[in-house]
Amino acid sequence: MPDDYFRRVEKTEVFRDDRPLEVDLGCGDGSFLLGMAEHHPDHNFLGVERLLGRVRKVCKRAKRGNLDNLKVLRLESRYSVEWLLAPGSVSRLHLLCPDPWPKVRHHRRRLVQQDFLEAVFAVLEPGGEFLFKTDHDEYFEWAVEKVGEFGKFESLDWPEDAFFYPKTDFQIQWEAEGKRLQGLRLRKN
Ligand SMILES: C[S@@+](CC[C@H](N)C(=O)[O-])C[C@H]1O[C@@H](n2cnc3c(N)ncnc32)[C@H](O)[C@@H]1O
Repeated sequence: MPDDYFRRVEKTEVFRDDRPLEVDLGCGDGSFLLGMAEHHPDHNFLGVERLLGRVRKVCKRAKRGNLDNLKVLRLESRYSVEWLLAPGSVSRLHLLCPDPWPKVRHHRRRLVQQDFLEAVFAVLEPGGEFLFKTDHDEYFEWAVEKVGEFGKFESLDWPEDAFFYPKTDFQIQWEAEGKRLQGLRLRKN
């Protein structure tokens, strides 16, 4: 947990070194995050998760794997991006299988909105990327529309074999049920 919720945190305060910082919003049980931290010892990984049980589980797994490049912040995703992390401090920001809030009256709870995209853009370093995946077709279309309206990101191709990208716990679950995921790869130029 941060010492002070009312000031920006530099990445060197989180990990005390200057390795590229990757953030996974709503990291859940952390399989993706743990896989990434193991594969990229030269990067630091910060999971953001509001449920304490999940935070503890990921931290335990990281300790067992001796991963000193992984930490989990127990905080709300939007707040972390808008108010806590320093501008230009994140090299890649991942938002994977977020809650789709399917009911129309709940759409305003979806993370992908203009103010959130503005905050993501600000927190990324130049050339940094925002990676988004969902199994929910309508949320995917919503995200494409919001990103188009926002207009500041460059959209990149993201074929499955583009780079190492482990499956998340929810992805494994959805794919076992025959659902397919769609993704957006967006770069801050
Ligand atoms: C559907 S799960 C996906 C978990 C993981 N990304 C995956 O793909 O396996 C969504 C996760 O985000 C967390 N979450 C949802 N909204 C959040 C928020 N506003 N701030 C922080 N965590 C949130 C939930 O507790 C849950 O663990």
